[in-house]
Amino acid sequence: MRTVTATVNGVTRSAETEPRALLSDFLRHDLGLTGTHVGCEQGVCGACTVLVDDVPVRSCLLLAVQADGRRIETVEALAQDGELSGFQRAMRDEHGLQCGFCTPGILMSVTAAEREGLTAEQTTTEVLGGHVCRCTGYQGIRAAIEHHWQEAGR
Ligand code: FES
Ligand code: FES
Repeated sequence: MRTVTATVNGVTRSAETEPRALLSDFLRHDLGLTGTHVGCEQGVCGACTVLVDDVPVRSCLLLAVQADGRRIETVEALAQDGELSGFQRAMRDEHGLQCGFCTPGILMSVTAAEREGLTAEQTTTEVLGGHVCRCTGYQGIRAAIEHHWQEAGR
């Protein structure tokens, strides 16, 4: 077993984990942060996306030990004091989700794109290209990105 310590959603968290454990398993099983979903486990669907030092990564492709000492953000960090983030509200208002399986990963990638200063068009192209959604046909998600960027005056 190895001890992995990371700043997760602003809090120092530490757990004993198998040396070959994936970051997704560390977050879900060792830390109980089940908002990060796991679909394909092959880096394809994007459901498991979290931010590591502000960079969106597929947590099913990273070993937990590779995240030791890093700053990790998961979907649980987005709502503050019970208030949804701006893009979470836009997703709700534009019906950007149905089953919600893909949603945490999309929320994290869009959050990173927003921080990077991407336009709505760039975000739609670059983010949605890396996330599989089997329910929505992407229309509501596109609308949510437009909605949020307009509301933010970008
Ligand atoms: S579960 Fe990681 S990309 Fe699909
Ligand atoms: S809302 Fe069901 S997979 Fe995207």
